[in-house]
Amino acid sequence: MTYQLLPHRQNLTTKVDSVPTFVIQPNSSASQDDLLVKQLAGLGRRANVAQSLNEVRKHPDYGKGKSFVFVPNEAGDASLADAAIRFAEAESQNAFVVYITDTMSADAYKRLVRTNAGEWIKWDNLLQEIKDVFHGAGGTQTGSATDSATIISFLPAKGGVGNTTLALETGVYLASTQKRDARVAVLDLNFQSSTLADYVDLEPRFDIAEFIDRPERLDAQLVEILSNKHSTQVDIFSCPPRLALSHDMQAEVIFALLDEISKKYTYVLLDLPNYWHPWFDNVLQGASAVIVTGEGTVPSIRQIANKQKHLDELSIGPDRAAIVINGCQTNFLGRIDRKSEIERTFAGRQVFFVRRDTDAVTEAANTGRPMMQTSPRSSIGKNIRRIGSWIESIQTHSLKAS
Ligand SMILES: Nc1ncnc2c1ncn2[C@@H]1O[C@H](COP(=O)(O)OP(=O)(O)OP(=O)(O)O)[C@@H](O)[C@H]1O
Ligand SMILES: [Mg+2]
Repeated sequence: MTYQLLPHRQNLTTKVDSVPTFVIQPNSSASQDDLLVKQLAGLGRRANVAQSLNEVRKHPDYGKGKSFVFVPNEAGDASLADAAIRFAEAESQNAFVVYITDTMSADAYKRLVRTNAGEWIKWDNLLQEIKDVFHGAGGTQTGSATDSATIISFLPAKGGVGNTTLALETGVYLASTQKRDARVAVLDLNFQSSTLADYVDLEPRFDIAEFIDRPERLDAQLVEILSNKHSTQVDIFSCPPRLALSHDMQAEVIFALLDEISKKYTYVLLDLPNYWHPWFDNVLQGASAVIVTGEGTVPSIRQIANKQKHLDELSIGPDRAAIVINGCQTNFLGRIDRKSEIERTFAGRQVFFVRRDTDAVTEAANTGRPMMQTSPRSSIGKNIRRIGSWIESIQTHSLKAS
């Protein structure tokens, strides 16, 4: 099982002590359950002990933000796994379920992970396992995720706002500033209409038919085969059109893919589609940071605010979320239209502005090269560099934290 990276990264930077925590303790004599409560207390978490999952639902603190619900199974009660999974399915908006047992069937584990609201940890090394769940420090079975990539999700507020352009250009910037051994990938998750490879004049090689039914095939070698190397040192993952197949993309396939790719790269930038998928929230939560992209018009600002609200609901706070207003027009003084009004609307949030520059875009399109190569000194180039620097600061932050 390799697709647990994302659930483990859940709440990467959430202030853990501010989130309600519950421990299900049906049997008061279970000594391991007491140990769990004590260890949570040691991590600054006061656990509410409940006798059943139903009791959690009725608790006055439940529903105030996303709760952690620990379901320890010391006695080997098989029905408890099923109850935990069903709770995670039903309550994915309100809770993240942490099921604790030494062994779990592959089927049950898959069901739990598919809820996007649950993870399994073992009694062995319990304290570290709990810390991993809270801080996203890494998986138990897959080794340390601290070695893996900084994943940045570019989330468009709607179609056509420049999401692909921004992900690509930021990737090119990051590749240009890193040390030699750093690697950058841009992955287009618009499986039906991937345009990334076109922007840099490459034949797309990321054929999802290679692994869609067999995610276990995804290994370092296949990842290498599916990527396009670009002269900017950015590896591109962009699909040839596969209309029928992409409908069947399952969450665990995406997780297996991200897990494998993140082992190889320093940065993975995800170009997300503007339509929702069952795997979406988990990908957002698993990312080191999310960048919402949109335009400066009134309807577009509203759409950005909606996405932002959704990120808040997923506990993705302002320290790992940013907004990019793309295609900004300037007035006769060279100032960006409505800049202060937009900044006021998103007060307390990191907002970047990227200018509209049709000449730079056209030249890049006609030469099949990114703007960071063709027009690095343009204002658009400067704007992209700011986004890249912010991403670099996120990486530094997460390295310090680990
Ligand atoms: N700052 C900008 N100035 C001028 N043109 C831009 C700018 N950013 C993007 N564009 C152009 O806007 C068009 C849409 O950009 P892009 O494909 O990156 O958007 P998208 O959000 O990925 O779209 P889709 O929803 O189709 O995936 C492209 O032609 C691109 O060259
Ligand atoms: Mg796009």
